[in-house]
Amino acid sequence: MSATYLTTSDVPGRRAQAAAVIAGLGTCLPTTEIDNDALSRDLDTSDAWIRTRTGVEARRRVDPQTSMRDLACAAGANALRSAGVNTADGLILATSTPDRPCPAGAPEVASRIGLGQVAAFDMAAVCSGFVYAVASAAGLITSGMLDSVLVVAAETYSRIVDPADRGTAVLFGDGAGAVLLRRGTVDEQGALLAFDLGSEGADADLIHIPGVAEQPTGERWFRMSGRKVYIQAIDRLAGSALRVTKDCGWGPEDIDAFVPHQANARIIDAVGDRLGLTPGAAVSNVARLANTASASIPLALADGVRSGQLKPGARTVLTAFGGGLTWGSIALTWPATTPVGSEI
Ligand code: UT7
Repeated sequence: MSATYLTTSDVPGRRAQAAAVIAGLGTCLPTTEIDNDALSRDLDTSDAWIRTRTGVEARRRVDPQTSMRDLACAAGANALRSAGVNTADGLILATSTPDRPCPAGAPEVASRIGLGQVAAFDMAAVCSGFVYAVASAAGLITSGMLDSVLVVAAETYSRIVDPADRGTAVLFGDGAGAVLLRRGTVDEQGALLAFDLGSEGADADLIHIPGVAEQPTGERWFRMSGRKVYIQAIDRLAGSALRVTKDCGWGPEDIDAFVPHQANARIIDAVGDRLGLTPGAAVSNVARLANTASASIPLALADGVRSGQLKPGARTVLTAFGGGLTWGSIALTWPATTPVGSEI
């Protein structure tokens, strides 16, 4: 790890500028853990294949009574607890596994956790949903429209993956993570300093669930062209991460903590090599939780704090890639935040 951390003077011209600052971090995981051997009993796969090709050893799965919104409420409430507050001016819910297509889940989540009649909407950017939602929340905060926004990412992929499709059934897990953002300044620990967002809609079919118009009577499972997505993932993640790193005036060696979307350990390693990261900078929990789509970055943030990789002041880069195709990155300094987690 690099020994130096960002100070006020490290980003010329940004001193005292308004910024969105991370004030709290919460998570929620289902208690049920499914290991690779359990999946191999019903599917033509093996623990060896899954570990070697993805790095995944286990994933969590919700029970039939638990909804995506239940996970979201718990993670959101935990983020408020972590920040030591009980209000926020708005809520954005990133999810690609809504419990129902209409309405958005965010208003109900805001109401259930006691935020009242605040601005609340869903963000549909699949595995990039958390980064897109945090960037949008930062825009609402720095424009002066809202003073604080709770960003929640919650997913129940166990409800949308085809249990008979070994190409996707082994990859995903359920879970939720959330951050509370408040208005502050760029020189504070926890300040979000640079953003990069992008998309390539020409490749929309690489990750999709057929809609009613496309498949009026058939089953509507999640589908992914894994190999084609894999090839793009490395380029998109590395390119986006590099853009925010440069925007902050950092080099790859200045990144103390790199927190990528947790899709595949091979992708995380390849992106780390491409960027030239310091060994130990990349945070990964894909072995334990698999790919939790938009929830993977906030869940990895909590694990990064617990493992000691994310220390207050650490120069941190978050980077995500997924369906749409979409990608995005955020550079920040890490705050002195203690995550609050729970199980459901
Ligand atoms: O979160 C959104 C973004 N998602 C990603 O970034 C995921 C990107 N893709 C990947 O991580 C990888 O492409 C996978 C993990 C999905 C697949 O790994 P791969 O090394 O690209 O394998 P492949 O798709 O090229 O398949 C290789 C072989 C095939 O068999 P043949 O045709 O060579 O005989 C597959 O049928 O592996 C077979 N295979 C499996 N075998 C055992 C595919 N899935 C499995 C499985 N168990 N679960």
